[in-house]
Amino acid sequence: MQLGSISIAGRAALAPMAGFTDAACRRLAARHGAAYTVSEMVSAKAITFGDKKSVRLLWQGENPAPFGVQLFGAEPQTVARAAAMIADRPFDFFDLNMGCPAPKITASGAGSRLLLDPRLCGEMVRAVVSAAEGRPVTVKLRTGWDAEHITAIEVAKRCEEAGAAAIALHARTRQQMYEPGIDAGMIRAVKQAVRIPVLGNGDIASAEDAVRMVGETGCDGVMIGRAALGDPWLFERVNAALAGQPVPPLPTLGQRMQALRQQVYEMCEEKGEWAAMPQARSQALHYMKGLRGAAALRRACCQLQHFADLDRLIEQVLESQRADS
Ligand SMILES: Cc1cc2nc3c(=O)[nH]c(=O)nc-3n(C[C@H](O)[C@H](O)[C@H](O)COP(=O)(O)O)c2cc1C
Repeated sequence: MQLGSISIAGRAALAPMAGFTDAACRRLAARHGAAYTVSEMVSAKAITFGDKKSVRLLWQGENPAPFGVQLFGAEPQTVARAAAMIADRPFDFFDLNMGCPAPKITASGAGSRLLLDPRLCGEMVRAVVSAAEGRPVTVKLRTGWDAEHITAIEVAKRCEEAGAAAIALHARTRQQMYEPGIDAGMIRAVKQAVRIPVLGNGDIASAEDAVRMVGETGCDGVMIGRAALGDPWLFERVNAALAGQPVPPLPTLGQRMQALRQQVYEMCEEKGEWAAMPQARSQALHYMKGLRGAAALRRACCQLQHFADLDRLIEQVLESQRADS
């Protein structure tokens, strides 16, 4: 797959997820074969105001795969100004958020609210492309605002005309949030409407899901969000399945706990323990998925305050597993 000037190895990208896809999470996904990764969404307006927290979200360090910074905003000029202001940062491409359903984002005209105005979506891409100094600009969108406003095809065409390098489509409207299931037909329709790569997104939880999505829609690649949390090995399984190779086995509990420890260690190194541990709690919960004693594990994860607490929890989890087997 090609994102403008960037050649992408692999066909499964890590979806942007606010509160989760920080540098440690992105690196881990990339080490396990994510074709590219995208930052948590960052407010263009906040960047233009010099907000330090927003700029910190862009910190990356070394990363084995191309990395995009996702901006959200409602006015093309503001988003373009933010893009120009961060142009000296080490990242590979820009991604524009046209899918966020959260009321506090849509109320300002940003996120999925943009889907009500395909012309504005095109203007947004055009403005950022001209500020991007040659970096590719990708777009992440939903199928539309609601059942009466399904605009993804027109938005995708406008974005392509304006210079977008790829489209990732979460195949639900804003109104649908996360239910019911995705509309694979819309991914197929968008794929047929544009020549740039289209990544299908929504509910991919296994290698089989990814193969089905590619088969049903003809999309160039898939983007995976929630199911990759606590399971970065999913990228290896999806890559193998899409290449028609044998799918590697699921990770052992020991591998899962080791990955969790490494991820939280890197989070603490980069943000400091005080900022990292609240986020580490929700990451830890994902690594505990499917283990016995879910309620007790949930309580224990929610009480993590220091890195040493995580070490104790991991030891307990491994102990109880040994005792059970
Ligand atoms: C906690 C969370 C945070 C998210 N944050 C973002 C975001 O910052 N930008 C974005 O474009 N999408 C965001 N999304 C949407 C995901 O990128 C993705 O489109 C959605 O979860 C569907 O894919 P999945 O079924 O593989 O999770 C978020 C989703 C979740 C669950």
